[in-house]
This record gives sequence, structure tokens and C-alpha cells, in this order.
Amino acid sequence: MKILLTGKNGQVGWELNRLLPKLGTVFALGKDQMDLSKPETLGPVIQGIRPDLIINAAAYTAVDKAESEPEQAMTINGVSPGVIAEEAKKVGAEVIHYSTDYVFDGKATSPYKEEDPTCPLNVYGKSKLAGERAVIQAGIPYLILRTGWVYSLRGSNFLLTMLKLAKIRNTIKVVDDQTGGPTWARSIAAATTCILEQRLKEGATKSPILPHSGIFHMSCGGETHWFGFAKKIIELSGLLEGIELVPIPTIEYPTPAVRPGYSLLSNRKLKQVFHHEMPPWQDALRECMDSLPR
Ligand SMILES: NC(=O)c1ccc[n+]([C@@H]2O[C@H](COP(=O)([O-])OP(=O)(O)OC[C@H]3O[C@@H](n4cnc5c(N)ncnc54)[C@H](OP(=O)(O)O)[C@@H]3O)[C@@H](O)[C@H]2O)c1
Repeated sequence: MKILLTGKNGQVGWELNRLLPKLGTVFALGKDQMDLSKPETLGPVIQGIRPDLIINAAAYTAVDKAESEPEQAMTINGVSPGVIAEEAKKVGAEVIHYSTDYVFDGKATSPYKEEDPTCPLNVYGKSKLAGERAVIQAGIPYLILRTGWVYSLRGSNFLLTMLKLAKIRNTIKVVDDQTGGPTWARSIAAATTCILEQRLKEGATKSPILPHSGIFHMSCGGETHWFGFAKKIIELSGLLEGIELVPIPTIEYPTPAVRPGYSLLSNRKLKQVFHHEMPPWQDALRECMDSLPR
């Protein structure tokens, strides 16, 4: 199986690039080789490789910056995934694409299911929803994997921000009224690989590689708020003694992008269809932080 992976330097892309080679030949590309801000350039790259499967881990993920760069966010997240899917169709490839919990408005009180109505509150969420629709529109076998609150030991994310702040501040204020599921990039990559591995064991090396098309939620198990996530990070880092963590409401931490107050995703469909259980967020965080250089 030939796999084209985009966004190889991102949190999820980097983890995928470690795991995918056991499944086939991986063509892992970064922004310089496949730039999603230039949709017209994507076709020749895909035609040149003629993959069996495209995994699109590239995205514009700067949620607040997207408010002032809506066109750029929409091109990368909304338009290019559709172009990728259309080009995939021409070479007979299938597509795995990642999306976000921010397609929801946060008014739910129990974990969001895949079929729940979407209503993004910010530019990033709107652009990702447009990307979902464009991928589906192409009419090829696809998986859209929605996740949320992604962290890893690379790039910029909440975990690394908290660890940095813990070294330079005595007091850290963290929002405690947004609920979600912190998800380790490696857990997403492992779940994605596991789905594909199951299929290869069943003998699918050519189309259709994906056993089911559809949207699936994929976030680590359990729930917390940013404050709870921060507390666990600081606790596991061993720095809790010297630091005062202060819970604050969102209204005291205004950001350019409005975020949903509740964006927990239900993994039930993932478990039912693919028999894959995501790890509890605390276990994933512990494992991730265990690999921090001491
Ligand atoms: N991060 C989160 O909290 C979060 C939450 C929910 C869903 N997701 C979704 O999960 C997926 C993976 O996210 P992630 O956390 O791995 O994101 P990430 O760490 O920000 O990685 C995104 C990658 O996309 C690349 N990229 C940006 N603009 C590009 C362009 N014009 N052309 C090609 N590549 C470009 C980035 O390259 P550079 O680094 O060179 O810019 C980066 O390598 C995305 O679909 C994202 O929307 C993420």
C-alpha cells in the first residue's frame, strides 16, 4: 500500500510518520512539498505519487489567528481537503482526514455524537466543517476523524505552554468552564494505524482499504476542563508544590476566537465499528510526560 501523508511535521503527522511505515510505503510531505494554501498545486503532487491512501494531517490550527486570517484558514482547511479528495478520486485513492470538536457550539450536556448538528462558533471551526463537507462531497471512500485538545511534546500546545509557565511563574490562572477531552497526538496516530492494520490483516491491500466511510470521533477517554488538565500536567511535572493554580471563568480570559463551553466527543461509534478503545486522557498524558527529557 502506498500512503501519502501530509503535514508530516505537525503533532499528529509526526506521530503517524513513525507508525505508518509498518503498513506500507509512506510518502510523508511537509508544507514545502505540498502546500495546502495553494490548492491548484496539489493535483500534480498526488498524480505524481498515485497513492492508494491519502492521510491529511495538515491543517491551519491557529484558532485565534484564524479570526484575522479567515481566507487563509478557509483555503487550507476548507478548500484544499476537497481538492485532495477530488484528486484522490482520479487516482483511485481513499482519504483519511482529521477534523475538530470545534465544529460544535458547545450547548450539549452529554458527549457529542457524530450525527449531532454542527454549528461552529469560530472561523477555525467553520473552515474545518467546510473541509469535512468537501471531502464527503467527492464521493470516495473516506474517514473523517474528529478529535480535540491535541497535545504532544512538539509544536505549540497547552501541555508545553503550561510546562513553560510553570518554570517562570508562581501563579497560573486557567479557565475552568470549558469541558473537553485532552488527546495525545500519539493516541490519534495509534488509533488510525490500528484501524488500517485491522484491514490489512483482513487482506485489503488495494481499494477499498477503508472498510467504512464516515465521520468518527476520536479523543482520549474521560473529561476535564483546562484547569483540570493544567493541574494534572503540573502535578505530573513535579512542580505543583511551588505553584498556585487559580481557576478562572472564560470571561476573565478573553480570546479572539469564541470557544465552545462543552466539546466532549463520544467515542462510542469508534469502539462499536472499529473495536478500538482510546486510552483515558490521564493515562495518555502520563505516558507522554514520561518521555519528557529529565
Ligand atoms: N491541535 C489541536 O488541538 C486540534 C484539535 C482538534 C482537531 N485538530 C485537528 O487535528 C489535525 C492535526 O492537528 P495537529 O494538532 O497535528 O496540528 P499541527 O501540530 O498544527 O500540525 C499541522 C501541520 O499542518 C502544517 N500546515 C500548516 N499550513 C499548511 C499548509 N499551507 N500546507 C501544508 N501544511 C500546512 C503545519 O506545518 P508548519 O508547522 O510548517 O506550519 C503542521 O505541520 C488537524 O486536522 C487539526 O485541525 C487539532
